[in-house]
Amino acid sequence: MGTRMIDDIDRIMAVMQTAFDPAWGEAWNRRQVEDALALGNCHYFLISPQGLPVGEDEDAAGFSLSRTGYEEEELLLLGVTPEYRRKKLGRTMLDALQLAATSRGAKRLLLEMRKGNPAEFLYSGFGFYPIGERKDYYRLPNGERIDAITFACDICGENTVNLT
Ligand SMILES: CC(C)(COP(=O)(O)OP(=O)(O)OC[C@H]1O[C@@H](n2cnc3c(N)ncnc32)[C@H](O)[C@@H]1OP(=O)(O)O)[C@@H](O)C(=O)NCCC(=O)NCCS
Repeated sequence: MGTRMIDDIDRIMAVMQTAFDPAWGEAWNRRQVEDALALGNCHYFLISPQGLPVGEDEDAAGFSLSRTGYEEEELLLLGVTPEYRRKKLGRTMLDALQLAATSRGAKRLLLEMRKGNPAEFLYSGFGFYPIGERKDYYRLPNGERIDAITFACDICGENTVNLT
């Protein structure tokens, strides 16, 4: 793993610690991120507070992590540090994901989210639509169970819907 990659994982983890509320138990630890990136089919994007790809010596305000599958790209994590929210950084990262995933041959994006996460407003505004539910799929740190919703977004051809 090169120095740039290690620096980038530091940046991802710094955002991870601020963006994900421990009550939901959704944050990944460093080992999980390293293992995902070591597989070779996972990709990340780091965004600066100004909404640009992060520079070498700059802290990130947000990140996305995704996994490439056959004609599909699954968004695994998307996080923005609270102080930089509602400045379109999440939306900009979805735009970047769409471009990158298209270049990797994806025809649709997928994601799974806990029911009730306000991130749904961002996703539906982008063009994601629900395709399935998994009852009681997530177990919270307090033992409570929450349903998961799977969303898809078509990103090529006539079905492209993200026109907002
Ligand atoms: C979800 C998240 C990534 C959104 O990032 P963000 O940079 O604030 O999102 P944007 O500014 O790009 O939002 C674009 C639009 O999406 C909608 N939106 C985003 N967050 C919203 C929220 N909390 N409530 C309602 N609508 C929301 C709005 O329409 C918003 O436009 P507006 O600000 O002009 O109203 C961020 O809130 C976050 O890190 N949450 C915690 C981690 C998480 O749950 N991630 C998703 C599951 S992995």
